[in-house]
Amino acid sequence: MKTDFLVIGSGIAGLTYALKVARDCPDKSITILTKTESEETNTKYAQGGVAGVTDFAKDSFEKHIEDTLVAGDGLCNPEVVEIVVKEGVERIKEIINWGADFDKENSGEYALGKEGGHSEFRILHHKDVTGKEIENTLLEEIEKFPNIQLINHYFVVDIITQHHLGYLITKSTPDIECFGVYVLNLQKNKIEKIISKITLVATGGNGQVYRTTTNPSIATGDGVAMTYRAKGRIENMEFIQFHPTALYEAGKSGQAFLITEAVRGDGGILRNAHGEAFMENYDERKDLAPRDIVARAIDQEMKINGTEHVFLDCTKMNQEKFVHHFPNIYEKCTSIGIDVSKQFIPVAPAAHYSCGGIKADVWGRSSIKNLYACGECASTGLHGANRLASNSLLEAMVFAHRCYLDSVKNIDSIQFNEGIPDWNAKGTNAPKEMILITQSLKELQLLMTDYVGIVRTNVRLERAMKRLDLLHIETEKLYQATSVSPQLCELRNLITVGYLIVKSAQFRHESRGLHFNTDYPGKSDLVQNVVL
Ligand code: FAD
Ligand code: SIN
Repeated sequence: MKTDFLVIGSGIAGLTYALKVARDCPDKSITILTKTESEETNTKYAQGGVAGVTDFAKDSFEKHIEDTLVAGDGLCNPEVVEIVVKEGVERIKEIINWGADFDKENSGEYALGKEGGHSEFRILHHKDVTGKEIENTLLEEIEKFPNIQLINHYFVVDIITQHHLGYLITKSTPDIECFGVYVLNLQKNKIEKIISKITLVATGGNGQVYRTTTNPSIATGDGVAMTYRAKGRIENMEFIQFHPTALYEAGKSGQAFLITEAVRGDGGILRNAHGEAFMENYDERKDLAPRDIVARAIDQEMKINGTEHVFLDCTKMNQEKFVHHFPNIYEKCTSIGIDVSKQFIPVAPAAHYSCGGIKADVWGRSSIKNLYACGECASTGLHGANRLASNSLLEAMVFAHRCYLDSVKNIDSIQFNEGIPDWNAKGTNAPKEMILITQSLKELQLLMTDYVGIVRTNVRLERAMKRLDLLHIETEKLYQATSVSPQLCELRNLITVGYLIVKSAQFRHESRGLHFNTDYPGKSDLVQNVVL
């Protein structure tokens, strides 16, 4: 298969990019690949909303910029912050024009929410299912473009570079170039090659590297891992954001249901096992401090009291308003027997967002030629050491637009590479024991949770690295001998992601934002990104 523009991923980043390119280049072909169903993305699960300055009477670009910089704890790229905050307003208007319906007050003004780290109410939302609204809007919109082909159940395995033409490639090879991808067609169970002129990686996050995460099962860091294998640059992977308030359900692992931070924005209060409101002991912004601070405070309270969760108290909130703004949360709590008007909601932190990723410049260009990255898999410099709530959807839209502008400018100067060999599956057999894969995945998730969680130490990181080494060796052996399956590829990718998180954490000899190492409790004067 050949396509001018190849888009890996159908979340907000991939779909926004595809739409813009398709509209601007009606004579060019755009192919979007997804590994499961098109709507199954992190985007679909977004609750709180999209941060953006819309009420210029109370809010300003300067305030949003300042909040983003404060949350990022000294590591944001100020140029990128300004770009995202200012250009975000246009992108928000665009998605509203495409049909996204954000809640309004009776006055007709947008009903703006507030989340941790925001100094103003500036979050546009659709009830507590903003992501679903956005995802559906974009999926409907792309149907209008005959030059877009969306193919589900196509699992991208690797990015094709000069390496596949027999050249030796290292990180310092100049002009590594992307010619397309090898992809597992899950219906035919066969590896195919797709040759492209420009490829966009929009594969989302990697929450599945931890035992409990707010992310769906697709979030296995495939884009980051395959870019790293292709010798592209990966940045700041140590900054994994744990959302403070995932619903705690005893004995459950995997995807946890999120209780949006907007609930605290509307008056929800965190309480410990004794029913005490504790956030005032940790930060003057109390329950609406940035996420890294709230998640660490909860972790501390759980350790002090020997509990697996704390509570979110919504009993004093206006219940009619609660049901109206958070119908999805209300329904979920009711379904498991929690009456939010009378009972506290048990919550605990869960892996939520990867602030680092594929290093991308201000036009979304990765270090590999003709390979762009945007959305959660990219590291643009916006989030620094900790992402401000609801800045992710905004960043994805702004950078999808920038990737589009740059790639349409370049497309006509790029030729298809006709010399790419077919995938070589010689010497591999069907896997005999899937248990080897599932067991290794469990080991990986457990070790990352136990040793590379909210609070880290040098010894824990060292232990994690040793265990990762072993998992890596075993899995590579399996990969060489076995025919490719999504489960094996995901395991391999998650091990790479785990390695990148631990290695980056070991390089950072300080505590900053989401990375807290008790062996280096202070901040270093040397403010720098970790690039692998
Ligand atoms: P995704 O939406 O995750 O899309 C990834 C796509 O890549 C999928 O189509 C998948 O199939 C495809 N893919 C991955 N690997 C492969 C492969 N190997 N081959 C083929 N296809 C592949 N952010 C906010 O700003 N506001 C919020 O309110 C908010 N709430 C959130 C709530 C939850 C529960 C979660 C999990 C996240 C939330 N976030 C929020 C974060 C935000 O939703 C995500 O960062 C963002 O949606 C990511 O979009 P994306 O387009 O980068 O990736
Ligand atoms: C939430 O709704 O609390 C999540 C918002 C985000 O991750 O930005």
